[in-house]
This record gives sequence, C-alpha cells and structure tokens, in this order.
Amino acid sequence: MTVMIAQADGVMTLTLSRLDKKNALSAQMYQQLSQALIEAAADPQCRVVLLTGGPDCFCAGNDLADFLAGGSLNHEHPTVQFLHLLSQFDKPLIAAVAGLAIGIGTTALLHCDLVYATASARFQMPFTSLGLCPEAASSLLLPRLVGYQRAAQYLLLGEAFDGGQAYQMGLVNEVVAAADLLALARQKALQLAALPATAVQQSKRLLKQPMQQQVQHVLHQELAEFEQLLHSDECKTALKRFFQR
Ligand code: COA
Repeated sequence: MTVMIAQADGVMTLTLSRLDKKNALSAQMYQQLSQALIEAAADPQCRVVLLTGGPDCFCAGNDLADFLAGGSLNHEHPTVQFLHLLSQFDKPLIAAVAGLAIGIGTTALLHCDLVYATASARFQMPFTSLGLCPEAASSLLLPRLVGYQRAAQYLLLGEAFDGGQAYQMGLVNEVVAAADLLALARQKALQLAALPATAVQQSKRLLKQPMQQQVQHVLHQELAEFEQLLHSDECKTALKRFFQR
C-alpha cells in the first residue's frame, strides 16, 4: 500500500507512504486516495479526513514517469478523478505538511480547510520549468489567496517558499514544530469531528459554494492546456532531463 488508511474517532487519516520516491503520486495512489474520499463521503462515522505524508516529505508531486507514459487526461484518468473528488469533497479536510510539498503537493492544499506545516516545509509549483502549466485550479485559487503578483512569482517563476511564508500568505493555519505536527493536526481533526456534523458540512459548503462553479470550470481548462503541454518538446526535454540527472 502506498497510501496508508486508518480510521478512528470519526477521523480518516490518509498517509502518503512512498518515501523511496519522495511520495510522488502514482496512478495507483490517486486511485487509493479517490477510493478513500468516496468511502469517507459515504460513511456517516467519518467526520473529517486528515492527509499527511512522511516526516521529511509530504509529496513530491505527480509521478513524472507517468507524465512520460502519456495517456489522455479525460474524466477517467486517476489524477482527474482525484482532483474532482478533492475539489468537491464536502467533509472537512485537514493537511499536515512536513518537508517537501511540490506540484500537487502544494496545489492540493488549496482545497483543504485547515493546513498545518513545519517551518522547514518547502512548497513549490515548478510547472513552467517542466514545460507545464498550473493544475488543481491553482491558477484561480492561488492569486485569489495571495494576490496576482505573488501568484505569478510562485506559478511563473516557480519560486519555492517555506512554512513561515506559507503562513504569512494564508495557505497554512499554523506553523508547528515537527514533533508536534501530527498531534496538532489530529487535535484539530478531533475538535471538528466532535462538532455537529451537518452544521460543519453545511458551513463548509457555504464557504466553498461561491467559487465552486468557477473552480470546476478552471480545473477543466487547466487540464486541457496541461495535456497539450505534456506533448510539447519543452516538456519532453524537461522530463528527460529530470530522469537523466
Ligand atoms: N516523480 C517520479 N519520481 C520522483 C519524483 C516525481 N515527482 N520526485 C522524486 N522522485 C524519485 C527520484 O526519481 C528518485 O528515484 P530513484 O531513487 O529511483 O532515482 C527518488 O524519488 C528520490 O529522489 P531524489 O531526486 O534522488 O531526491 P532529492 O532529495 O535529491 O530531491 C526532489 C527530491 C523532490 C527535490 C526531486 O526529486 C525533484 O525535484 N522531484 C521532482 C519534483 C517535481 O517536479 N514534481 C512534479 C511537479 S508537477
């Protein structure tokens, strides 16, 4: 299993566990995550989902080998299915981030309700250097969160930022020592799980609702551009460079 799933006290914890590949998300991992979200949504015992990774690596983004393998990014593609489920998931989602959070490791956080990170967490969305464009509706959600110029800094230049900067920009709720990260995220998850479930879900829906249609629209637009770029020479050269380094 490359995603460990545990459920207790109303909280489903999803732990990315492919540390030899820095938790790069394979098609199989996207399927496991999607299945878990479907089950969490259907299970009244599950009140909150907590997503985390390893102590030094949250997630190094999409598996670049899968990008090389190609395949159409249609609605059956595991990544596409996961993005749709993640962006429309109506129970609270909490992320606990330590270490690297690259590509979708960062953009997925834009769909979480609460995010906790260590000061040394390293966030980056290096899409352009890979010959690619933003995904997960980040081209809409990031400028809305941090303003246009800072979004351009992170999505065009692909500059990295740490936990403290992520806190300053409002992507992270709290920066916490590595030893306390999971305990704090769990405590917040239990706190949410103890609240009246319908009220929490309805409140989340209201918070997300003004942007939901636009998020789905941009998500589709980005995927169409992303798929075209995957076939470009710029992208093929960048991917080859990564695997030959
Ligand atoms: N896809 C596939 N494999 C990946 C990966 C990814 N996104 N990220 C890391 N890996 C693999 C490496 O190929 C390597 O595999 P190997 O041991 O079989 O050679 C292993 O994970 C360890 O990575 P390595 O690069 O040796 O570790 P590092 O600590 O020097 O660097 C990263 C870690 C994450 C900075 C670096 O691997 C990296 O830049 N990865 C790509 C990140 C990325 O661009 N993600 C996609 C964004 S859209």
